[in-house]
Amino acid sequence: MTTRCCLVVATLLAALLSVSASLEFGFYNKTCPSAETIVQQTVAAAFTNNSGVAPALLRMHFHDCFVRGCDGSVLIDSTANNKAEKDSIPNSPSLRFFDVVDRAKASLEARCPGVVSCADILAFAARDSVVLTGGLGYKVPSGRRDGRISNATQALNELPPPFFNATQLVDNFASKNLSLEDMVVLSGAHTIGVSHCSSFAGINNTGDRLYNFSGSSDGSICPSNSGRFFPNTTTFMDLITPAKFDNKYYVGLTNNLGLFESDAALLTNATMKALVDSFVRSEATWKTKFAKSMLKMGQIEVLTGTQGEIRRNCRVINPANAAADVVLARQPGSSGSTGVATS
Ligand code: HEM
Ligand SMILES: *[C@@H]1O[C@H](CO)[C@@H](O)[C@H](O)[C@H]1NC(C)=O
Ligand SMILES: *[C@@H]1O[C@H](CO)[C@@H](O)[C@H](O)[C@H]1NC(C)=O
Ligand SMILES: *[C@@H]1O[C@H](CO)[C@@H](O)[C@H](O)[C@H]1NC(C)=O
Ligand SMILES: *[C@@H]1O[C@H](CO)[C@@H](O)[C@H](O)[C@H]1NC(C)=O
Ligand SMILES: *[C@@H]1O[C@H](CO)[C@@H](O)[C@H](O)[C@H]1NC(C)=O
Ligand SMILES: *[C@@H]1O[C@H](CO)[C@@H](O)[C@H](O)[C@H]1NC(C)=O
Ligand SMILES: *[C@@H]1O[C@H](CO)[C@@H](O)[C@H](O)[C@H]1NC(C)=O
Ligand SMILES: *[C@@H]1O[C@H](CO)[C@@H](O)[C@H](O)[C@H]1NC(C)=O
Ligand SMILES: *[C@@H]1O[C@H](CO)[C@@H](O)[C@H](O)[C@H]1NC(C)=O
Repeated sequence: MTTRCCLVVATLLAALLSVSASLEFGFYNKTCPSAETIVQQTVAAAFTNNSGVAPALLRMHFHDCFVRGCDGSVLIDSTANNKAEKDSIPNSPSLRFFDVVDRAKASLEARCPGVVSCADILAFAARDSVVLTGGLGYKVPSGRRDGRISNATQALNELPPPFFNATQLVDNFASKNLSLEDMVVLSGAHTIGVSHCSSFAGINNTGDRLYNFSGSSDGSICPSNSGRFFPNTTTFMDLITPAKFDNKYYVGLTNNLGLFESDAALLTNATMKALVDSFVRSEATWKTKFAKSMLKMGQIEVLTGTQGEIRRNCRVINPANAAADVVLARQPGSSGSTGVATS
């Protein structure tokens, strides 16, 4: 009776907070009370050193969640037998600052070994990055577990490329149960960070969005043939306030400063354009909606309970024995031969 009552209450609460039944706020309260503080301090220290850390970690969480769910699979290194997500075209060479995640993980392993997942580190770090650049803070439900598969082809297939039009973007986000509004709201993340020239100019500047910016991160522009000859040259995405988590991305958009076709596409559909205009008018509205959409994105296909594992090193899946140990520890009576973790 008591159990049933609590279940009902818990389900109602989860529905109210739109948190999936399996993730919890403060999941590490007892097992690693300093988990979120350790991640925040690591990210803040790295950000002080290099402000590019914030956009990098925000994008890393997005790219994690859209491929096999938020399971830390984007962090796994390729091996001789496996090309991992991070070595796919959408992620390489543009994803950066994996070492910051490594540092957070090392601190966590020192404090509470084998407890905090790499997937949760990314979810916390993305939130911390938003706050560090001036966005609104929000509580991150946790308890995600780490996947054991990372597949470069899936990253290429699942992540939206910068040449997608409005319909394609909506369809891509819908496949992750995210709405048109979530898509427009989350695109506002392009208010911070950089793009490689090659991402929009095309390898030989054959792309139709050839810009001659004067506001890039190193004072240079994306010159002719920049994709081919200057593969590492980048430009800010929000030229107005490139390091601030404000609504200037939308202001720039409406002044035709959208960098990607996917950015400019938000003006091609009346519903999207109305959202963009409303965010130009009210930064506060966008910031609140951004936090809500991040909460949704952070719950895509999460592994929980005994699924997956808690990776010891975010770059390497645990050895098979270690995964079995975890299952055996949870089921003292079971025999070793069946104690293999799935997915
Ligand atoms: C709507 C579809 C989206 C497309 C097509 C897209 C595409 C891109 C591309 C091509 C880049 C530049 C990568 C490079 O060349 O360095 C980029 C950067 C970035 N994206 Fe997106 N993106 C999308 C949505 C999102 C979402 C949902 C988020 C986060 C919530 C996000 C956050 C970022 C950030 C922060 C950067 C800058 C990264 C850095 O400075 O290291 N993007 N995006
Ligand atoms: C952890 O503590 C916070 C703050 O007291 C509370 O809101 C949250 O529900 C707790 N979570 C769990 C899983 O104990
Ligand atoms: C600070 O930045 C330098 C150069 O970008 C890098 O070598 C170093 O590891 C960074 N230190 C920290 C604590 O992030
Ligand atoms: C990677 O994903 C692709 C697309 O889903 C699939 O065809 C391929 O078999 C996968 N590779 C491995 C090694 O599982
Ligand atoms: C978007 O691209 C798809 C695929 O190329 C195409 O079928 C569709 O007509 C385009 N939609 C718009 C609104 O341009
Ligand atoms: C989307 O929601 C449906 C129905 O609840 C669910 O079956 C599916 O797994 C979800 N997909 C993702 C990517 O979360
Ligand atoms: C880019 O230009 C070079 C030199 O003209 C040419 O060899 C190469 O095939 C071109 N690549 C693409 C993708 O167009
Ligand atoms: C870009 O700017 C450079 C230098 O100002 C100029 O030589 C070049 O023609 C411009 N390219 C385009 C496509 O406008
Ligand atoms: C671009 O960066 C990569 C990785 O740091 C480096 O190996 C490569 O030499 C760089 N290329 C150029 C042309 O600077
Ligand atoms: C905007 O895009 C959505 C999703 O593709 C579509 O359902 C809607 O009809 C479009 N609205 C307009 C006014 O074109």
